[in-house]
Formats: sequence, C-alpha cells, structure tokens
Amino acid sequence: MTQGFFISFEGGEGAGKSTQIRRLAERLQAAGHDVVVTREPGGSPGAEAIRELLVNGAADRWSPVTETLLMYAARRDHVERVIRPALARGAVVLCDRFADSTRAYQGAGGDAPASLIASLEDHVLSGTVPDLTLILDLPAEIGLERAEARGGAARFESKGLAFHERLRAGYLEIARREPERCVVIEANADIDAVTAAISRTVDQRLER
Ligand code: TMP
Repeated sequence: MTQGFFISFEGGEGAGKSTQIRRLAERLQAAGHDVVVTREPGGSPGAEAIRELLVNGAADRWSPVTETLLMYAARRDHVERVIRPALARGAVVLCDRFADSTRAYQGAGGDAPASLIASLEDHVLSGTVPDLTLILDLPAEIGLERAEARGGAARFESKGLAFHERLRAGYLEIARREPERCVVIEANADIDAVTAAISRTVDQRLER
C-alpha cells in the first residue's frame, strides 16, 4: 500500500504558518509531489461548520474541556474524510494545526486534563498522527501583535498574554518530549530564513 507523508504546522498566534505552508506546498508540487493543504479546526465541510462555533464569540463561550470535545469532533471528521484518504493515495499532507494545538491551547493554556486529551488522541486518531511536526516558535507578545494587525481567529487571540505564554511553553515541552517527531523552528526571524529552515528539515525527512 502507498503511504503518504503527514506534516503538521504548529505554533501560537501570528507565527507565520500560512505563508510558510503556502511556500512549502508550491515547492513540493514543483518537485512532483501530490500535495494536500488543509487546516484545523476545519478542513472538511463538517469540521468547518464546527470551526465557526469555536473561533467566534466571547473568550469564555466554551470551557477548555468543551473546546477539547468540539476540536476532537471536528478532527475526527477531518481525519476520516480528508487526511486518511490523502495519505492512502500517497499524498504529502500539510496541515495548519493538528492534535498538538489541543495539547497547547486547551491543555497547557487552559485546564483540560492531559489524561482526557491523551485518551482522545488514542481513541479518536487511532494512529493517524503526523510523521513530522514543525513548531514555529516566537515570543507570545510579538505573535499577538502580528495577529492583531492581520485580524483573524479573534476568540483565541483575546484570551490574554499569560494564556499565550503558557501555550508557548506547552509547545516547547511537547518538542522536548517527542524530539523524533517535532522540530522547533525559530519564527522570530526573516521570512526567507524561516522558509529555508523548513525546507531543510522537510527535505531531510522526506529522503528517509
Ligand atoms: P487559526 O486558523 O488562526 O490558526 O485559528 C484557529 C484557532 O483555534 C487558533 O487560535 C488556535 C485554536 N485551536 C485550538 O485552540 N485548539 C485546537 O486543537 C486547534 C486545532 C486550534
């Protein structure tokens, strides 16, 4: 059976994921890969409908546990209908956020229990996990400034600096625990330098 390659992009607000994903997709397509670009929450019609509930409204509209359950309902639909079929036909899947966002935002940033999140990963993803995760890291304050200038998923941006500092630390902890899967990319740098760092890492992994 063909098996594709699953890359997730992670990081706080304003880390520059979308630009970098677009650049990587263009480069991989030019090299002849079948590339699927997708995002979370969302990526399938059902999951995009759930996204509307998650990214709009007041910061306290949902508790972290409720958010976790909505994220996983959306994620399951996305995995079943988009990610697994793409990987099965041998595509490279570039996903803007995946399961680590729940660990960071609802777990480290909020108070959703790590045991709940681990159990959902186990039962809901059933093995569909990224081959490579690129964590775009930058100080929370700078990311929030960038995100505000751009306008975007306002509900999570409005949760305050302390929340965003906790989730940044959460991401760095994930990378420390899973160094085989995760690579931290310095994102407080020139946009072309970030692209070059990502290209190097992806090329090395795809060659393996
Ligand atoms: P984005 O499309 O700008 O990245 O917005 C999605 C927002 O949803 C972002 O603020 C992060 C948040 N989020 C979570 O809190 N948990 C998750 O599991 C995912 C995928 C996203």
